[in-house]
Amino acid sequence: MAVLKTENLTKIFKKGWKEAKVALDGLSIEVQEGEIFGFLGPNGAGKTTTIKILLRLLKPTSGRAEILDKDLATAPTRLRVGYMPENPYFYRFLTGEEFLQFYAKLNHIPSNQRKKRIDELIETVGMNHARNVRIRDYSKGMVQRIGLAQALMHDPKLVLLDEPLSGLDPIGRKEIRDLVYALKEQGRTIFFCSHILSDVQDICDRVAILHLGKLLKLGSLSELLGTEKDRVEVELKMPEGTTKESLGIQGDFHNGIFKTMLDNTEQANQFLDQWKSKGAVVRALIPQRKSLEELFVETIRAQDPKVALET
Ligand SMILES: Nc1ncnc2c1ncn2[C@@H]1O[C@H](COP(=O)(O)OP(=O)(O)OP(=O)(O)O)[C@@H](O)[C@H]1O
Ligand SMILES: [Mg+2]
Repeated sequence: MAVLKTENLTKIFKKGWKEAKVALDGLSIEVQEGEIFGFLGPNGAGKTTTIKILLRLLKPTSGRAEILDKDLATAPTRLRVGYMPENPYFYRFLTGEEFLQFYAKLNHIPSNQRKKRIDELIETVGMNHARNVRIRDYSKGMVQRIGLAQALMHDPKLVLLDEPLSGLDPIGRKEIRDLVYALKEQGRTIFFCSHILSDVQDICDRVAILHLGKLLKLGSLSELLGTEKDRVEVELKMPEGTTKESLGIQGDFHNGIFKTMLDNTEQANQFLDQWKSKGAVVRALIPQRKSLEELFVETIRAQDPKVALET
């Protein structure tokens, strides 16, 4: 079942005499219940605009955007969606705990359950040590964590996270990744924008790649990164007397060890059979999967060769 859907979604920003800016150009995506969906694209691709339209914070120029098949204007639907904004602006003079109390009230958590819920969330996002510190004194990663706690306050079915990993150190990123996994195990759907592609590759079931408002790729990671055309790196200890010339293919050959990259497993097997029969010993066989980062750069560059990519 689709819990989030856009159909031909288009957003054109136009202010006065300024040139119109096409932020979304006919975007159609569907996110299924229970999946972790990565929404990727370089700066200005239209990711935040999509989330804002889904949440009815912006109106589309044309097309449709639906969440949980219901009108988001109704309170029950809103209560089933959690949102963590990209650049959260929280009340700086509140402590983390006071901030969550405020959100608990906004989310109608009954007063006798608030403390327990807040304690649980603070624990979940690893902010116990800073619960009584004011938000103005938080680091960027700490603001991200408290923002995530806020998004989960009312136990939402669908969680929209706009760059949840930015500003976190490697340990923090691992913790948030584990948390996103745990949310999925609890049956929630997670839709998130990210630039940190290695993390996306680890946790997403499916991804969409967007550039200049257009959808360029959509699919599961195995579909997009391919499984059959995988290259394989092989490393062999060659028999005495092997010369560079006798190898017949390109590679590194030092101290009797030959390292090379073959286009697929078939080629690798042929090469290994040939050399093992001459006394070579296999030291390593490493499948080379294309990384999501390579695919991302390749896809965006094919569309727009001049784009500056920072991932
Ligand atoms: N309120 C606005 N008025 C005019 N243009 C806007 C407005 N909001 C966004 N845009 C433009 O729309 C495009 C898409 O912006 P958006 O914030 O959705 O990108 P993004 O994919 O979230 O980028 P980032 O990775 O930098 O967060 C950009 O070119 C941006 O300049
Ligand atoms: Mg954004």
